[in-house]
Amino acid sequence: MDITQYRPKEKINHKHLLNLMDYSSEEIFEIISLGIKLKHLYKKGVNKPLLKNKTLAMIFSKSSTRTRVSFEQGIRQLGGHALFLSSSDIQLGRGETIHDTAKTLSRYGIDGVMIRTFLQSDVEELAKYGDFAVINGLTDDFHPCQALADIMTVYEIFGHLNGLKLVYSGDGNNVANSLILACAKTGMEIACATPKGFEPNADVIKEAEKWGKITVTDNLEEAAVDADVIYTDVFFSMGQQNDEKKSKALMPYQINQDIMKKAKKEAVFMHCLPAHRGEEVTQDVIDSPASVVFEQAENRMHVQKAVMTLLMKD
Ligand code: CP
Ligand code: NVA
Repeated sequence: MDITQYRPKEKINHKHLLNLMDYSSEEIFEIISLGIKLKHLYKKGVNKPLLKNKTLAMIFSKSSTRTRVSFEQGIRQLGGHALFLSSSDIQLGRGETIHDTAKTLSRYGIDGVMIRTFLQSDVEELAKYGDFAVINGLTDDFHPCQALADIMTVYEIFGHLNGLKLVYSGDGNNVANSLILACAKTGMEIACATPKGFEPNADVIKEAEKWGKITVTDNLEEAAVDADVIYTDVFFSMGQQNDEKKSKALMPYQINQDIMKKAKKEAVFMHCLPAHRGEEVTQDVIDSPASVVFEQAENRMHVQKAVMTLLMKD
């Protein structure tokens, strides 16, 4: 199945978006198709109240610019509203359990909870005990909303997904894990160039292999040949200590013009942001015409409106 032939049904068989491990190709196509539709309406100044009077609680245990603003604007455009809950301000930050937080929020008519935290198991526990849709806004292991926005961006640029080659270079982190699953399940080929010891999650690779072509290598120069998309992320994710050894190991995986030249002429550069210019990517690449990083950032809002609509509407 190819996204260009997919006929949207405006529903999915999931209550939550915890990660993309158990999402099918069709479900990912469904979200992206609705994201594109809502984007077109938004550009025409039309905001359908698909989530009128619905409430999204947003729990943040880590910093955010894009996730926070795009979810808040997104739900507002759909006729609902958002509650920003910094974990340092709510009792969760003082040791109240996820179980008790889930049970409590369920008593206030909350329709959805977006959570950005450390442990993936906390997101899963919230979904287990809460009476609302749970959306993973990033954990140490996954960043599914980012991967959905990224695939939507690639689809808009190239007009198809099947057979496109995406090369992810750098730390095999949360962004890499979700991107691998999203690429494999949408017909894209993915090559991960990571230094030894920093490979993506082994279960993710195993799942991705069932769906598509994935290569994990420590040779970026070879991997980058004929790429349609070159993608990278920070050396140190939130919650990780900067360490010299990891920095040294990741420096050869920096995306610079020499690497971009190995890719196809019309290849694009992607990054989930925030970026550290001069570390994982050079300034001339991220600020070049090939860079689509702000398209990715914008599409977070559109694709998350689709996710919220599919999970939270009556
Ligand atoms: N890409 C992303 O999730 O950005 P924020 O950390 O700013 O939310
Ligand atoms: N890997 C990064 C992504 C930030 C959006 C982190 O977890 O900090």
